[in-house]
Amino acid sequence: MNYLNVLKYFKPRTNRQSLNNEEKASSPGVRLYSTEVRTCTLIPGDGIGPEISAAVQKIFKAANVPIEWESVDVTPVKQPDGTFGIPQTAIDSVNRNKVGLKGPLMTPVGKGHRSLNLALRKEFSLYANVRPCRSLEGYKTLYDNVDVITIRENTEGEYSGIEHEIVDGVVQSIKLITEEASRRVAEFAFKYTKENNRRKLTAVHKANIMRMSDGLFLRCCREMAEKYPDVKFEEKYLDTVCLNMVQDPSLYDVLVMPNLYGDILSDMCAGLVGGLGLTPSGNIGINGALFESVHGTAPDIAGQDKANPTALLLSAVMMLKYMGLNDHAQKIEHACYDTIKEAKYLTGDLGGKAKCSEFTDAICGKLS
Ligand code: NAI
Repeated sequence: MNYLNVLKYFKPRTNRQSLNNEEKASSPGVRLYSTEVRTCTLIPGDGIGPEISAAVQKIFKAANVPIEWESVDVTPVKQPDGTFGIPQTAIDSVNRNKVGLKGPLMTPVGKGHRSLNLALRKEFSLYANVRPCRSLEGYKTLYDNVDVITIRENTEGEYSGIEHEIVDGVVQSIKLITEEASRRVAEFAFKYTKENNRRKLTAVHKANIMRMSDGLFLRCCREMAEKYPDVKFEEKYLDTVCLNMVQDPSLYDVLVMPNLYGDILSDMCAGLVGGLGLTPSGNIGINGALFESVHGTAPDIAGQDKANPTALLLSAVMMLKYMGLNDHAQKIEHACYDTIKEAKYLTGDLGGKAKCSEFTDAICGKLS
């Protein structure tokens, strides 16, 4: 199974027939690049989500990407049993299209529904979270040479939500590690490393302390290493990786790890390249994938045309690569990197004064 080519996973819907003449005229990509337009679910999200989603749609249109967006709202609705959950129309859309792009979602603190991000991961069995962190030319950070990919197990570990109070003042939280989940994320990581011609894969663990749970995760990685003898494989303790990463990030290439370690290490890697505002991610599932920016809803700048759409745009680029639309992906990626390198239209988070719409137009200008 080629994880970068979703065409093997699902039969994309062909919507060409459903376009009327007016729509065809405004969709030059249909005629220029492909006879097949594929539908992708779009979850614009909250806060700056709708602004950055609109920016991505505009850039995709300028690049003639043969994609039709199906926009859905995931604001929880009351279910027949009284609980709140993702609306069925949104679930149906992702299940039908098998691939989607998601803006940030607001999580209410201490009340209302549980994290929608977690609910989406569970609903669609999105078992591997992939985050590429690459230094951007033209945006100076402490390091110039970061190019690491973190692959995080996304469904269990410390996030299994099994916690209880044994007696007053003593609580227990269960870290659940299964052979099935460990093996599938290990397999994904080896395939990803091989198919993307990466240098090596590092399994990150604490099996010296959590001998059974991390031991099982590590065993699954070792067994997979035997199936992929051409992928260079190593094992490292989490603490060693953190130390090395801030001293010399070029020591690492692709890293695979259990859930909590991935949460922390992937944010640390994002920090090395300029923060969450620039970092894309993909959540890969058994039957499809959801791509998302890793930053939040940025309520302080929402609705002011100040947001940087780069993270969502690069997530959308990951989505295109996943779908096998590599030419379109590369074209957009280069236009985005060039715009940042030129530094004429940088948004506030990157030290500039440009609006989201100006940055977006600058990218579009390089695509037409
Ligand atoms: P945040 O990432 O929304 O904001 C932190 C800071 O970064 C703010 O100053 C914001 O203006 C800035 N920022 C974030 N993205 C930016 C962008 N694209 N362009 C320019 N500046 C940007 O984190 P915060 O404030 O902790 O969370 C706000 C809400 O977002 C919360 O409800 C939280 O639960 C949710 N959230 C959702 C995530 C998701 O859906 N994946 C991830 C993280 C937070």
